[in-house]
Amino acid sequence: MRGLIPDSFIDELLARVDIVDVIERRVPLKKAGREWTACCPFHNERTPSFYVSPAKQFFHCFGCGAHGSAVKFLMDYERLEFPDAVEELAQTVGLTVPREGGREAAPREDKTDLYALLDAAAAWYEGELPRNADAQAYCRKRGLDAETIRRFRLGWAPAGYDGVIKALGNTPRRMELLNEAGMVASSERGSKYDRFRERLMFPILDRRDRVIAFGGRIIERSGEGSPAPDARTQDARKSDGPKYLNSPETPLFHKGRELFALWQVKQANPTLARIVVVEGYMDVIALHQAGLPIAVATLGTATTPEHTEVLFRAAPDVVFCFDGDRAGRAAAWKALESALPRLRDGRQAYFLFLPDGEDPDSLVRKEGKAGFEQRIRDAMPLSDYFFNELSHDVDMASLDGRARLAERARPLIAKLPDGAFRDLMAQELEKRSGARAVLQADPAAHRAMQRPTAVQRSLVRSAISLLLAQPGMADQVEKPYRFLRLDKPGVELLAELLDLARARPGINSAMLVEHFAERPEYPSLQKLMAALAVGELEAQRSEFFDALARMEDQAITQRRDALTAKSREAALDPSEKTELRELLAARVRPPVASA
Ligand code: UTP
Ligand code: MN
Repeated sequence: MRGLIPDSFIDELLARVDIVDVIERRVPLKKAGREWTACCPFHNERTPSFYVSPAKQFFHCFGCGAHGSAVKFLMDYERLEFPDAVEELAQTVGLTVPREGGREAAPREDKTDLYALLDAAAAWYEGELPRNADAQAYCRKRGLDAETIRRFRLGWAPAGYDGVIKALGNTPRRMELLNEAGMVASSERGSKYDRFRERLMFPILDRRDRVIAFGGRIIERSGEGSPAPDARTQDARKSDGPKYLNSPETPLFHKGRELFALWQVKQANPTLARIVVVEGYMDVIALHQAGLPIAVATLGTATTPEHTEVLFRAAPDVVFCFDGDRAGRAAAWKALESALPRLRDGRQAYFLFLPDGEDPDSLVRKEGKAGFEQRIRDAMPLSDYFFNELSHDVDMASLDGRARLAERARPLIAKLPDGAFRDLMAQELEKRSGARAVLQADPAAHRAMQRPTAVQRSLVRSAISLLLAQPGMADQVEKPYRFLRLDKPGVELLAELLDLARARPGINSAMLVEHFAERPEYPSLQKLMAALAVGELEAQRSEFFDALARMEDQAITQRRDALTAKSREAALDPSEKTELRELLAARVRPPVASA
């Protein structure tokens, strides 16, 4: 299979995509020095040993050994065959996969035809809209202006069972594509018919302005149907199925990933401080038309973690907007849970609950742009919503109640990425529950919060870690090791590692560490190896020699201070005097913060 896609294309593709981006869409990553890390998605683990290197465009798990490029990650993670993984990646960066040999090598994997077909379907529906008086009347009734209809490419699916089929499915290949795109349904006897009939059509676009699916709304014709179009089910006439019918999942359309109108939002805002998530197509459209082109909607599903990631990539502040009713509250809590692991510092989530019986569409028509903007400004920060919701049914005056709050909040706070926000939430919980030891009671979470970053690691440990990353550097360290004068834990171990590596040219990190398999240092060596085994070689190299130089400097300072102290209590012997003079003359670079 691989042979059908030219290697030069794979090279170009890998040069265009960023593996951190690819992986982070699926697994939340935390920055760790130059790398990104996470709990490995390929095996079960509690502490992260999965590393992603932006410099090398490579991932590696020290736990299970999984490793590879962005393509390999997609193959493993999405369980895709090689050509499909390439196809998927190529799409994200706007490349078309060329096929060698020219033949119909793999028509199923080529989605170009599917996109073209869906675009033609949208155009056909658009053209039908002006021809149907009922549809026109409905648009007027809902207050949709011509510009909005154009911007959202709204259309009309006429009555009949073969409109789309006649218009677009005129060859067996196109019929197959219509089926694959979810535009037709099959009867029990296997014959195909239009899925969307007599519906106002809302094309769903991907992030590159390509039609990938549709939503279709039934309309009440003049003189029938409910006068209250916003009531969820009232106007869903049984015979016509649900009020909104969406395309099924297809190779192009994954409900849990797509957001309605994200493309229009990005078009309207080169930079975006805040994005608002509402529940319905009409809500999005009404907000855009009212001059608030910052609204998107999920597509008849709860907010997924993937949605949340897409949202935060679009804007640092995400406002989740829900009905004030029970269903809305439940949906809001789901959204909160999906947001927690994605709330890195700098990202903020807000919750906006609407008055009973209103939705954003009805509200913005009543209160105008300014009124809705005010509601957005007044939205509840996630932290308030979080604590209100968790404590609304407990008696905060009682010890029991506060313990219950702590018990509920702790595992949720543990889902937040390391950072200032998590610390604040933990502090807030301590304050509210009065339990000072709340997080200490969860040793794993507490340790995670205290875990030192690479920068805080001691100089000696850094040097060991860097050497483990490139044992070949040992050759260039002069003997005798001058840093040995430094009185610090780990110095001898570093010398031992250097000697080992010098004695065995070509030894690799894993082999080097295996020499210590029976020794008590083994686990910490493995950790030190994991910390840096992916990284930019050149940068690591200079960091290593810099660490050695700084250790020498520290050794000088240490010895000088010792001799100076001694000289205050007793006379130094002549050799000590000479040594101190030399030490005082030695130029020591100022200590660096991370030393
Ligand atoms: P609503 O029924 O609240 O829709 O459903 P709405 O946007 O206010 O619709 P109007 O104002 O009556 O036209 C909210 C969303 O839930 C999904 C759709 O995505 C809809 O926009 N939904 C709803 C469905 O997928 N199917 C349905 O039958 C109903
Ligand atoms: Mn509505």
